[in-house]
Amino acid sequence: MPTALITGITGQDGSYLAEFLLAQGYKVIGMVRRTSTINFDRIRHFQEDVEIVQGDLLDQMSLISILQEYQPSEVYNLAAQSFVPTSFTQPVLTGEFTALGVTRVLDAIRIVDPTIRFYQASSSEMFGKVQEVPQRESTPFYPRSPYGVAKLYGHWITINYRESYDIFACSGILFNHESPRRGLEFVTHKITNAVARIKLGLDSELRLGNLEARRDWGYAPDYVRAMWLMLQQDTPDDYVVATGETHSVQEFVQEAFGFVDLDWEKYVVQDPKFYRPAEVDLLVGDPAKAGERLGWEPSVSFGELVRLMVQADLEAWERRLKQAAALDQ
Ligand code: NAP
Ligand code: GDD
Repeated sequence: MPTALITGITGQDGSYLAEFLLAQGYKVIGMVRRTSTINFDRIRHFQEDVEIVQGDLLDQMSLISILQEYQPSEVYNLAAQSFVPTSFTQPVLTGEFTALGVTRVLDAIRIVDPTIRFYQASSSEMFGKVQEVPQRESTPFYPRSPYGVAKLYGHWITINYRESYDIFACSGILFNHESPRRGLEFVTHKITNAVARIKLGLDSELRLGNLEARRDWGYAPDYVRAMWLMLQQDTPDDYVVATGETHSVQEFVQEAFGFVDLDWEKYVVQDPKFYRPAEVDLLVGDPAKAGERLGWEPSVSFGELVRLMVQADLEAWERRLKQAAALDQ
């Protein structure tokens, strides 16, 4: 039974990757940082099947000790400060987690066991002000946020450790991927959650920032499969993972409100509070290399993604309303 360590197991991707690896027969070790209140919402349903261990990307010794104790053959580094607006207000912290954190994990691997295979969660945010459409592995980078800059450091340090120490290290350049487990501050889940609440009479407006921005949105469970595939190849490499389709925030809004037969223009308010100091206007990836070498392709279309997220939020809010009504009786 192979052993895999996931940093960031409590996040959207970590939870799906853990489920995927368990289904492949892995022993899964999930690293979590110490918090005053435990938040295992995304992993509670399979918590018994994984081993949770405390560690932090800021603490080198914790990473070394975990590798020594559990001896994983694969490490998936998904932990990061992943919200772009927070990277503008907390740029130094973002650099510590999202950039230097990668070096700490790689150095722990170099010291403890350089045969461990390593996956780094890189991002299409590195393309930023895009230099080519669509973006592929060879497209020059031009990050537009402290988060994008930090991820670019993580990408290059992964390549550097591969070339310097012969570590099997891969950088997955993943475009936006969403699901009902997406954090509520990201635009897709913010929209679908609001649509469900408005439909059920719990809210009357949705305040958003830039509606013109375009993203290549895929379905998160598809994307964790690509992470695993990268580490099963004969040689380490870097891959773009995307759908190849781009849609604006406004198109997402229209699709989501349309699904519950509401006119989005009656509810959506544009609020400059949500504009960013520098914006990424257009992302659309070319997943040809992942298709040819990994046999990877997305399974969920844009329309299906929007519908499944709205549906999940509607069901969640209906459940909460029923529970509240039962308590009142
Ligand atoms: P997420 O939901 O924000 O999860 C981030 C995870 O990192 C959480 O488990 C969080 O733990 C953990 N974490 C944060 N700081 C840490 C620290 N100092 N030490 C240990 N753990 C720490 O992110 P996601 O959407 O699953 O994304 C996973 C990774 O892929 C991230 O690196 C993200 O930047 C990258 N990425 C995401 C996308 C996307 O569209 N989702 C696209 C490209 C790249 P807590 O639960 O304690 O907060
Ligand atoms: N969050 C948010 N909230 N975004 C908004 C809003 C709003 O109210 N209104 C408009 N947007 C626009 C943002 O300006 C951005 O152009 C777009 O919606 C997407 O924003 P997010 O959903 O926050 O995602 P992101 O693209 O900035 O970053 C995500 O994808 C990256 C991959 O490209 C994150 O998951 C990153 O961690 C990931 O690397």
